[in-house]
Order: sequence, then structure tokens, then C-alpha cells
Amino acid sequence: MVSKTMEELASLCKRRGFIFQSNDIYGGVKGLYDYGPMGVELKNNLKQSWWKSMIYERDDIEGLDATILTAPDVLKHSGHEDTFSDPLVDCKSCKSRWTVDQLDNQSCPNCKSKDLTDPRPFNLMFKTSIGPVDDDSAFAYLRPETAQQIFTNFKNVLDSTNRVLPFGIAQIGKAFRNEITPRNFIFRVREFEQMELEFFVEPGLDDEWHKYWVDSRFNWWIDQGIDKKRLELHEVQKDELSHYSKATVDIMYTFPHGKEELEGIANRTDFDLGSHTKNQGDFNISSKVMKNKKSTTKLAVQNLANKNWFIPYVIEPSAGVERGVLALLNEAYKVDEKNSRTVLALKPHLSPIKAAVIPLKRNNEQLVEYAKFIKSKLQKLGLGRIALENSGNIGKNYRRHDEIGTPLCITVDFETLEDKTVTVRDRDTMKQQRVGPEELIKYYQKYFE
Ligand code: GAP
Repeated sequence: MVSKTMEELASLCKRRGFIFQSNDIYGGVKGLYDYGPMGVELKNNLKQSWWKSMIYERDDIEGLDATILTAPDVLKHSGHEDTFSDPLVDCKSCKSRWTVDQLDNQSCPNCKSKDLTDPRPFNLMFKTSIGPVDDDSAFAYLRPETAQQIFTNFKNVLDSTNRVLPFGIAQIGKAFRNEITPRNFIFRVREFEQMELEFFVEPGLDDEWHKYWVDSRFNWWIDQGIDKKRLELHEVQKDELSHYSKATVDIMYTFPHGKEELEGIANRTDFDLGSHTKNQGDFNISSKVMKNKKSTTKLAVQNLANKNWFIPYVIEPSAGVERGVLALLNEAYKVDEKNSRTVLALKPHLSPIKAAVIPLKRNNEQLVEYAKFIKSKLQKLGLGRIALENSGNIGKNYRRHDEIGTPLCITVDFETLEDKTVTVRDRDTMKQQRVGPEELIKYYQKYFE
């Protein structure tokens, strides 16, 4: 059974150290969450899986790690200063504040008054200041998407590698949005991480590449363990497209609170590179770019046949790490009533802990010593965290590791000290078997093939 409520997931997340409300001991802050010992591993594994599929398993994408603090000029020319806002209204009677889509028949959802202000745009970007003077001349934004610093680094990456079109630049990192109504646990938050690829292509080939990336990203989520029947593609209507997009397809997932966007794949055309480019008039830019007199660089490439310079088009698959984590937890959460246990059936490459090594008797020196030996042997294989459980209660350890998604438990007992065999237990089948030292390595590695 897949989890039915967000409460069940949130409760497991807190109980087992995946996700905590941030600033909890001071009452918490809405829309901010911290990742605990299990959460940080799951998150890192998801990011690692994305990075591997983008950079290591392909030959046409480079990585980047750019700053979060962003100069206002970047976000002015990207269009975010003007357009990255939600319309807000104030209730003049009870002084509450609402987004337009929250209104209840044009009246205040709190006091039902119809005495409301006209909608005013509220910019979602966080501001801070750089340097000792806290005034308007020294402010910077916390980036609202990781994409912009990929565009501003386009020429740096191009000049420092031997790339020709088509090629991509990928980045994983924090993004910040002052969401008016953060909600649904980690689904809509104010500080989150994005996994973004900007894939640069020749104008004219953009529609083909857009389709390619929609298919590729859809299948990647299935490979992470998401059931196809809870995924759906949604073509964003023309009047709902972001200011930079010619076409966007969203990958929708049926979260516990309903069907919503997990990842968006946009055709950003030449809008961004065009907006950040010096001497825009030199180019035949197809989109409505932001006027720019400040940039020092042409973000263009040369057609080697006719020697003309042109601005590439960009296809952008952009996924939220938190939404990925939420979808994966929802998929993996199973209540096994027959065996009175809860299981997180995560794919092994995503499991926070890959194997738990459990000495049968707590603090027994020889058993613990041998368990440590096994742990270090498996740890050296570099597939992720191996845990040593020196608590002595095998049943309790099995339950705990079922609930955090550990695919394999290895018990060291007194027989082990004689013949080096151990008992391995599979999370999903609960089958146990006795294996020798060499078999153990092979048995463990099989989970990650
Ligand atoms: N660079 C394109 C871009 O940022 P977006 O649709 O605004 O596009 C991309 O965001 C992805 O980032 C979304 O599909 C979602 O997974 C994630 N995301 C956006 N806002 C979020 C929020 N407030 N909380 C959690 N994830 C968010």
C-alpha cells in the first residue's frame, strides 16, 4: 500500500531522522526544513544519481557550482526583477494578506469581508547586502533558480573546454523563494535545492531536443523507483508560460496532497543568453530579450560553415530535490500488515544506509570486532554508508532498518567466529541465508548492479 497521507510520511520522517521542522526549538519557521541523519543521505543519493546520469554517463554535459549570492544586474536582465512575483491582496477589515487564488469568491477567507485592496505584485526574491554598508547600493539577491549563473558562466565553460553544440551545463544547488503560502510539508518551501540542466542547441533543433529531454527525464524518474502510473506529462498552456519560455512540459506526480509538478522541462529559446549578451543588436535574437547595456560579454557561438555568430537556444530540465525526496518517500512507504512492519522500499542506490552490520550480542568484544571488520570491508567498496548496530536487539534492528529502507542486514553471531559465515537478511523478502566472506561481497554488490 502506498502512503495515503502526508501526516504519515511527515511522522516517519521525524521519527527516523529524515526531516525536521527548521528552527524547531524556537517554534519553527514556516516553509523551512532541516534534513537529519537519514534525510541527508537520501538527498545526497538522489543528487548523486542525477549527477551520474547527467555528467558521468554522458559525454556532452559539464558540471558547475556557482554562487548563491547574485548581483542584481543578473536578475534584472533575466526578467526576474520585473516578473518573478505573485499578486497579493490585503483585507482592509481584518488586515490579513492573501494571494488572489486563495480568495473565497472575491472575499477574505478569514473574515469574509469583500473590502479588499487591488492585487499588487509581491516579488518572491530574497534580498541581502554584500559588504559592511547595509543600503540599496550594496544589495544582492539569493538566487531564485540556479539557472542564471549557468548562463552568466556560458562563455567561461565554453572557453575552458572544447565544447561545440549541442552541449549542456548542469548544476545542483540551493534556490530561495519567499513563497507567500509554503505548504504541503516539503512540497512548497522557501529554501530548496534544484537539479538543473541548461542544454544549448542550434536554433531550429530546439523542438526535437525539447522532446528528447522530456522523454529522458520522465524515464529517469521511473528508474529512481517511481511508478509510471503516478507520473503524467502536462503541457503548460501558452498563457501560463514563464516569461522566458516558448514551451514547457511539466512532469506531474500524484503526491499525497494531489497531482502537482515534480519537474519542468522548458524551451527557454535564446531569451537568457540573449538578455545577458553585450551588443544585442549584432545578433538575430528571436525572443523578446531584456535590453542590456551593461554586459561585457557576447554569449554566442560561431557557425563553423558560414562563420556567422549566433545565440544558442536552451532546453532546461529543472527538478526540485525536495519534491523528488517527497515523491520517493511516498512511493517507497509500505505498510506490511502481515508482518506488522513498515518498510521503506527505496531502490538500494537511494537508501540512506546500504547495509547494517549487527553483532548478535551487544558489547561482545569478539562479535563487535568482527562486525567492524565487515563494516570496513563493505565501506571500502564505496557504494554508500554502512552502519554498525551495537544494540543487541536483532528484531528491533530489523524493524528500524526496514523503516529507513536499508536493503540488507548482516548478523554476526558465534558461528561466525568459527567459520566466518554470517546471516544476511533481505529487506523486501525478509529471507535469511548464511553466506561466507567472499559470497557476502558478491551478495552485497548485487544490490547495486
Ligand atoms: N529554472 C527554472 C525554474 O526554476 P520552476 O518551475 O520555477 O522553474 C523548477 O522550478 C522546479 O523547482 C520545480 O519543478 C520544483 O520541483 C522546484 N521548485 C520550485 N519552487 C519550489 C518551492 N517553493 N519548493 C520546492 N520546490 C520548488
